[in-house]
Amino acid sequence: MTDTGSERFDFVVVSNRLPVDRVLAHDGTPSWKPSPGGLVTALEPVMRANDGAWVGWTGVADDDQQPFEADDLHLVPVRLSAEAVELYYEGFSNDTIWPLYHDVIAQPTYSRRFWDAYVAVNQQFAEAAAEVAAQNGTVWVQDYQLQLVPRMLRELRPDLVIGFFNHIPFPAYGLFSQLPWRLQIVEGLLGADLIGFQRRADAGNFLRAVRRLFKVQTPHGRVELPAAGEGRWPNSMSDRPRSVVAKHFPISIDAKAYVALVEDPAVRARAQQIRDDLGDPGTIMLGVDRLDYTKGIQHRFTAYAELLAEGKLDVDDTVLVQIASPSRERVETYRALRDEIELTVGRVNGEYGTIRHSAINYLHHGYPREEMVALFLAADVMLVTALRDGMNLVAKEYVATRGDDDGVLVLSEFAGAADELKQALLINPHDIDGLKRAMLTAVHMTRAERRTRMRALRHRVLVHDVERWSRDFLEALAAIRPRASAQAAAATED
Ligand code: F6P
Repeated sequence: MTDTGSERFDFVVVSNRLPVDRVLAHDGTPSWKPSPGGLVTALEPVMRANDGAWVGWTGVADDDQQPFEADDLHLVPVRLSAEAVELYYEGFSNDTIWPLYHDVIAQPTYSRRFWDAYVAVNQQFAEAAAEVAAQNGTVWVQDYQLQLVPRMLRELRPDLVIGFFNHIPFPAYGLFSQLPWRLQIVEGLLGADLIGFQRRADAGNFLRAVRRLFKVQTPHGRVELPAAGEGRWPNSMSDRPRSVVAKHFPISIDAKAYVALVEDPAVRARAQQIRDDLGDPGTIMLGVDRLDYTKGIQHRFTAYAELLAEGKLDVDDTVLVQIASPSRERVETYRALRDEIELTVGRVNGEYGTIRHSAINYLHHGYPREEMVALFLAADVMLVTALRDGMNLVAKEYVATRGDDDGVLVLSEFAGAADELKQALLINPHDIDGLKRAMLTAVHMTRAERRTRMRALRHRVLVHDVERWSRDFLEALAAIRPRASAQAAAATED
């Protein structure tokens, strides 16, 4: 790990979290571990390919960590105070925007204190990015925690090419319009040259919000902003008119890395060992999620428990392994969810488990990628039952892993992945009977049908991998505002 000093970078990624979190042992000794969530997994290979800098938080409040290099990545920490973590991260990001953008599955909190902290922290991130980006460089801002950064950054550094990608859904206007700060959010995003979304429907929802709020047209997903000072609002935030494009770019995974891991004999042996340890049942069902109310974990448990109750599944022959990685544990809704889930696991196991077999094998941990791949290989049926999800990379990881063309993916139509993974068994998780039918179909599916479906799914994921996602996004960004024109604009401003 080395100090990167005051270097400037042509390519800068800005996200709430750095790819590594600082963890402090009981005696205060620091170490680093990979951060949770799909965003970091997706962006890490992009960063390695572009030799850029990554601006983000270390995951620890009041951390004075200076810029450093870890594993060949240039990391630029943004210091968040304990109060900022509470109000900006746990508050506005995860207790306001998160539930609102996931269709109000939980009630969003609209707090002016949260909002003020969100504005202040977004300004901090914009300033950190402005400082580290080279003249006419490209800055790619990530996700809902930083929606004001594009505009703030453009005001600080009009020479930059700015992209924004939203990793979570963007809600329909009927919901979005609840947000007291809806104008500021949309104006913040319009600071970017290109705004990327997971699904076509998300881009459509955003464009509709622009039309409704600003009474402008958005032909072909393009917003034409007039020069600053022309009186119309929002203005371009520069002295010339400017176009902003909103479009879908479904994110993916580093599929090759998964394929390589499957070839590792140690991983294969581990997959076999997992099967053996579970008593080599006829069917292993698997759920892998951050412990989040958007993931539909309860719905999956309900369906599974009913199938056990009806004798359509038997614990002697079937097990459901549920990995629920700890997440946002200081936010009340998440605490309540954990209690609820763990109560259900206890009930289902108490009711249907035997001395030899648990019905649900529940693990509240995060695991390294090797272990995840071994679990994917061991699982006959993968259950992705999200009530709403931007993409759900776990679905793609499962598919990439199944080089044996086996395994069945049960996938919620409310996860972005459903737009692409059409050969999965698509379900509506609210329809418990439909979910039960799909689970039984998965358990009884013939080898030939499993093979046909998995081949098509794998083809999609291997071709549309994360490298292609970032290439598509960055090429589209360069086409909207090539660096040459950024240079010309900068020269005029001088
Ligand atoms: O994509 C959704 C997301 O919120 C990412 O921004 C984030 O890195 C990940 O999920 C994990 O969430 P958190 O950073 O709040 O632990």
